[in-house]
Amino acid sequence: MFYEPKKGLPFDIDPFKSLIFPRPIGWISSVNKKGIANLAPYSYFNAVTDEPPQIMFCSNGGSFNYKYKDSLSNILSTKEFVVNFATSSTRNQMNNSSKDFKPEEDEFILSKLKKKKSKLVRAPSVKDSPVNLECKLVKTIKLKSNSKKISTMIIGEVIGIFIKDKFIKNNRVDSLSMHYIARMGYSEYTTVTSKFNLKRK
Ligand SMILES: Cc1cc2nc3c(=O)[nH]c(=O)nc-3n(C[C@H](O)[C@H](O)[C@H](O)COP(=O)(O)O)c2cc1C
Repeated sequence: MFYEPKKGLPFDIDPFKSLIFPRPIGWISSVNKKGIANLAPYSYFNAVTDEPPQIMFCSNGGSFNYKYKDSLSNILSTKEFVVNFATSSTRNQMNNSSKDFKPEEDEFILSKLKKKKSKLVRAPSVKDSPVNLECKLVKTIKLKSNSKKISTMIIGEVIGIFIKDKFIKNNRVDSLSMHYIARMGYSEYTTVTSKFNLKRK
């Protein structure tokens, strides 16, 4: 099968996201100017470079009647955020935090998640996340959009990295023991449970 997305879909549900998987989930925490915390999952997310380390995520469309989703609004006004990671044990809280809450609602409280004070940014970290990446906004890029919905890529520099000690073994990160979850298509997710080594040529 071959199709051109702009000419229509040969499926009932757009399979685009089912073709690029697993997508890591950046569980983004931020605060607004009043100090109200916000938390939401973003699977258009990844690391993009490492000197200095930078990550990106994309915010598509708005929230309620607002032009931007709360994470983007907060980041535009405070210039900082934290990337947390959902695991098989926090999957339901991660899902809850994706609801379209109002800007004045704190998703940590609504999702029954504990906050941890971050070291370098005002946005709180998710205490149950194996890793927290404290970020400063580098830039936003407006993406092409076929609709009225605004799509924005947010690039952040990782200025502080917290790793729970129990996930460090023999001076390396023990990735598998973190049980990160990742997004596939539709409502499908996966947990990272196996690995193999391949030395780079
Ligand atoms: C696993 C998962 C991944 C998501 N990825 C994205 C994404 O990459 N971009 C996006 O705009 N929304 C994404 N969403 C939807 C947002 O989480 C949702 O719109 C949320 O309410 C945004 O919250 P905020 O307004 O507090 O930023 C995702 C939802 C889930 C459950």
